[in-house]
Amino acid sequence: MTSGTGRAGRAGEERAGAQQWVPPDADVESLRAAAPGCRGCELWAGATQVVFSTGDERARVMLVGEQPGDREDREGLPFVGPAGKVLDEALEAAGIDRGRVYTTNAIKHFRFVERGKRRIHKTPGVAHIEACLPWLEAELAAVAPGVVVCLGATAGRAVLGREVKVTAERGRHLSRPGPDGDLRVVLTTHPSAVVRLRGRPEFDAAFEALVTDLRAAVV
Ligand code: URA
Ligand code: SF4
Repeated sequence: MTSGTGRAGRAGEERAGAQQWVPPDADVESLRAAAPGCRGCELWAGATQVVFSTGDERARVMLVGEQPGDREDREGLPFVGPAGKVLDEALEAAGIDRGRVYTTNAIKHFRFVERGKRRIHKTPGVAHIEACLPWLEAELAAVAPGVVVCLGATAGRAVLGREVKVTAERGRHLSRPGPDGDLRVVLTTHPSAVVRLRGRPEFDAAFEALVTDLRAAVV
């Protein structure tokens, strides 16, 4: 389902896809070194920098988010903003050391709209997911994790190659082909969805559900 070198997306917007910028059979370090050169879709142009991955490249657990946010775009690292804080808290509550997981995003450049001085997150389209997928596939091959945790529907769509509904599918046994046969996939909510509930009565249940899914991923 990789878009390869074809056209995808709306008329007039050429998205070549990342494939030609992804070095073959590369380790994570080589992928990270090559990523700033990617012109696989138009998102690189508005962003400050590419945001690749962080963490242990031999990790058993791979976490996949959606795309970098405002803070991540400025700092060049995934999950360092408000969603990252909730993710850290949830990992800690689940007994998972963030240094021992590999953390990345489905899309490596920040997509946003400008409103005055603020840059507001804009959900990536399917064409962006497909354009950026060669990076994620190369990371899956390089890290060869035992389980992939998809944080939200965009990550789920990228990893599973189909539309997903988090509320309907979380807690299910999911899998996809991996470098060593079937690869286990856990689908859970995006930490940003939990962040939005802060101060509301639903927060605790949403946070606990995220922790439960993370715990289930490491058993
Ligand atoms: N949200 C994501 O999906 N990824 C990040 O890196 C930050 C926020
Ligand atoms: Fe390349 Fe992905 Fe950035 Fe698009 S979002 S330019 S495909 S790295």
